[in-house]
Amino acid sequence: MAIVAANFKMHKTAREAASWAQDVAASPHLLQHEVIVFAGYTQLHAVSEALTGQPLRVGAQDVFWEDFGAYTGMVSPGQLIDAGCSHVLVAHSERRRYAHETDRDAARKLRAALRAGLTPVYCVGDVEEPTEGPMSAQTLTAQLRHGLSEVGLDDLRQVVIAYEPVWAIGTGKAATPRQAREAASAIRAAAAKMFGESSAGELHVLYGGSVTEDNVAAFVREDGVDGLLVGGASLEAQEFLRLLAAVAAG
Ligand code: PGA
Repeated sequence: MAIVAANFKMHKTAREAASWAQDVAASPHLLQHEVIVFAGYTQLHAVSEALTGQPLRVGAQDVFWEDFGAYTGMVSPGQLIDAGCSHVLVAHSERRRYAHETDRDAARKLRAALRAGLTPVYCVGDVEEPTEGPMSAQTLTAQLRHGLSEVGLDDLRQVVIAYEPVWAIGTGKAATPRQAREAASAIRAAAAKMFGESSAGELHVLYGGSVTEDNVAAFVREDGVDGLLVGGASLEAQEFLRLLAAVAAG
């Protein structure tokens, strides 16, 4: 069962997002995959309501690490659950870039999300495309080591890692399936050092970065790639439905 996640980023009104959710909820492939939609804060209630009783899961694109308090503009894990979320993205590269989020912030967010019962999807990835040889395992290892530093062994199976090379996001230049497989294996190797082989083996690893209906099947065929995080190609419901069909056929 592949995990296929849509990331709306800063697109859509609440009404548009709810209408997307209704269209995608009609897909026969929802029972074959775990499908999650990462909507904007202002859309979460409307999307959750549109999906009542449907297997499509709802996630937010960020979260703060405190439960409540004087933190203007922040949104807590409990508030996300109240809005119908089961998942949350942590440290997406656009958060790292525009909000200067660090691996230390990610560690706090992961801990807070897990404590509240949310499934965090922790985004890691190298900024530059490696010119030759394997993916930059060093960057991934550092992001994993810091970001997962406050995750307990029991919570690890609740964590999803999204490998999203920055050079592939929104550029139309996806990583190759082989690069995605090598990165997934570097991620599991780093996790194995922290948590042991068998726990690391249970970790779910997604690939994200210029995934389309045309290239998606090749990624899910790779060993160790458990699913996809899709930005641009998720925005139109019909295009995302075709992408889900391609995953099912792949
Ligand atoms: P993209 O975005 O599919 O538009 O490259 C992926 C992401 O940032 O999650």
